[in-house]
Amino acid sequence: METIIGTDINLAQQFLEQGNVIGIPTETVYGLAGNALNEEAVLKIFSVKNRPYFDPLIVHTHSLDEVTKYTQQVPQRALDLMEAFMPGPLTVLLPRQSCIPDLVTSGLETVAVRIPNHPLTLSLLQQLAFPLAAPSANPFGYISPTTSYHVYDQLHGRIPYILEGGATEIGVESTIVGFENNQAVVYRLGGLAIEEIERVVGKVFVQTNTSSDPKSPGMLKSHYAPRKRLVLTDAFDITDDELSRVGVIAWDKKVVGVPDHHQIVLSENGSLKEAAKHLFAAMRTLDETDVDYIIAVRVPDVGLGRAINDRLKRAAA
Ligand code: TXA
Ligand code: MG
Repeated sequence: METIIGTDINLAQQFLEQGNVIGIPTETVYGLAGNALNEEAVLKIFSVKNRPYFDPLIVHTHSLDEVTKYTQQVPQRALDLMEAFMPGPLTVLLPRQSCIPDLVTSGLETVAVRIPNHPLTLSLLQQLAFPLAAPSANPFGYISPTTSYHVYDQLHGRIPYILEGGATEIGVESTIVGFENNQAVVYRLGGLAIEEIERVVGKVFVQTNTSSDPKSPGMLKSHYAPRKRLVLTDAFDITDDELSRVGVIAWDKKVVGVPDHHQIVLSENGSLKEAAKHLFAAMRTLDETDVDYIIAVRVPDVGLGRAINDRLKRAAA
């Protein structure tokens, strides 16, 4: 199968209506999208991605009205959050309507829904008569793609189309929030900072599982991982002998002694937003160099820094 990259949402629509899966841009990472109401399309997503069926998918749509077609018994706090942050890097877990196939939710009674904030993908969703199930468009366990080229690099020949939407604005996946007795619980740290969520719904629980057999594998202990070994550290401290063999993901300044082409500074002016945007591309770039392993330096653990450190920790596991 030939894989085309382009900006034609009508062509994207055609492929999706035929039950194909395609790459789509969002503001967080690129997704591998198919008709969420068509089991065959959903099966294709799992097989292209090599993803185990016990790992449920997020349903993407374009408006809050649409969300109510796929969910029920929405608690007030969920409504408040959705009104404040959708479209945006927020996914909410809500009781599902029966039109959502078991395959999408892995049999769970909740469905994950999100309205991605990307103009091209929002227009596409508006044109479609169905929502899109979409995991990140990477082979299971590997780093999520933040450009169309990342998607092409790993999935070409397996999907007919990738909708070109530029490099993603946020760079880490959406924050996943569920509700227990109207209390918000964060299951995955992501592009919407906890502090922002708490401004709207008050104190939240953060319950990011790190078991190796969770019911939400985005919380798998090892995930988002490059092929090379990655070590996460607070302070950079290696021997002279290692300097030429190590790749470095640095926070805001270079590490003296490591060759320039073996290190990537996430944000020279110490912006966590910029760091999140560059994180996954940095992992990929260093994975493709000839270094023996990669060292990443932990970033400040506030705002988006918490999601960055979370991804680095899982990449290192
Ligand atoms: O930013 C994002 O969320 C991206 C873009 C493409 O939208 N998508 C994404 O999808 O990261 P994925 O499949 O890579 O991660 C979705 C996570 C998985 O860890 C899955 O287990 C969890 O969401 N999930 C989905 N439905 C769930 C449910 N009903 N209950 C608990 N966890 C759920
Ligand atoms: Mg993923």
